[in-house]
Amino acid sequence: MLPFQPAPFPLARPRRLRSSPWIRRLVAETMLTPADLIWPLIVHDGAEDRAPVASMPGVFRLSPKAAARAAVEARDLGIPAVALFPNVGGEKDNVGTGATDPDGLIPDVIRAIKDAAPEIGVITDVALDCYTDHGHDGVMEDGRIVNDATLERLAEQAFIHAHAGADVVAPSDMMDGRIQAVREALEANGFQDTLILAYAAKYASCFYGPYRDAVGSSKSLTGDKKTYQMDYANADEALKEVAMDLSEGADAVMVKPGTPYLDVVRRVSETFRVPTFAYQVSGEYAMMRASIANGWLDEDRAILETLHGFKRAGAAGVLTYFAPQAARLLGA
Ligand code: PBG
Repeated sequence: MLPFQPAPFPLARPRRLRSSPWIRRLVAETMLTPADLIWPLIVHDGAEDRAPVASMPGVFRLSPKAAARAAVEARDLGIPAVALFPNVGGEKDNVGTGATDPDGLIPDVIRAIKDAAPEIGVITDVALDCYTDHGHDGVMEDGRIVNDATLERLAEQAFIHAHAGADVVAPSDMMDGRIQAVREALEANGFQDTLILAYAAKYASCFYGPYRDAVGSSKSLTGDKKTYQMDYANADEALKEVAMDLSEGADAVMVKPGTPYLDVVRRVSETFRVPTFAYQVSGEYAMMRASIANGWLDEDRAILETLHGFKRAGAAGVLTYFAPQAARLLGA
């Protein structure tokens, strides 16, 4: 029900409020600015400075040096933060040993970014999938992902990131109790000011396909992630996940993927009134890039319209591979 009864036509002519650019600007209900954007960076320990990702045209796997340059670019564009995702070579194992190497790729990249652009926020992905030989986010026993043994690995990984200088750790694994495990590890080690951005409502989605290519986990992934990531039939369950993560010490929450889940963004932001982020994931990016390359979608308008949709749905900000391009379109 509207709080008033609109007069009938011709007294009410909604088009009056759309009749020219100045009035449209004046009455716009929501705004998108570079301050709403987080730029996900895929980083690697390979030899190349920048290596293209085939399924994500315009996205590159970056060396630590290249990631530092990207962070400077982000800062200069007014983008508040970058989020790091690793593609590591070398041996992988069941417990993802590489995830807790204090001299590993992610700690290196954090330090390189903090040297080059100390003003920018650095967010890290806390999950084992890029480091395990089976491509899952947890430790595997008898073909199952075991929850509680995984928590110890995640807590140690988050500590390693915080120790290297990460401002925000973002558990994306969907184990039960991981926020509490991570929060306790941070508190116990003097990192009480490190933020936790919980991937609280993360769905088992086909839209992560191109990302798994980008980080090199698609070849190894056995089976699917449906025993820990959420079923896309559910939305009430997202509220339960968010409530748990907040009670365990999360500062902000995320809904992922993005555009197909705007209803969840709306419900979470309205119910909890905490900073709610959304992730326009690799598959959404790839889908748009393919249409743009074919001339079926106008590039600039498609980017701005999809990103603005997140703000309208109540998001505090958006993780998007389009971040630098969008910031430029927004006049940065
Ligand atoms: C898992 C993780 C994934 C993404 C970010 N962190 C993929 C997955 O759960 O398989 C996906 C990001 C994207 O698709 O852009 N640690």
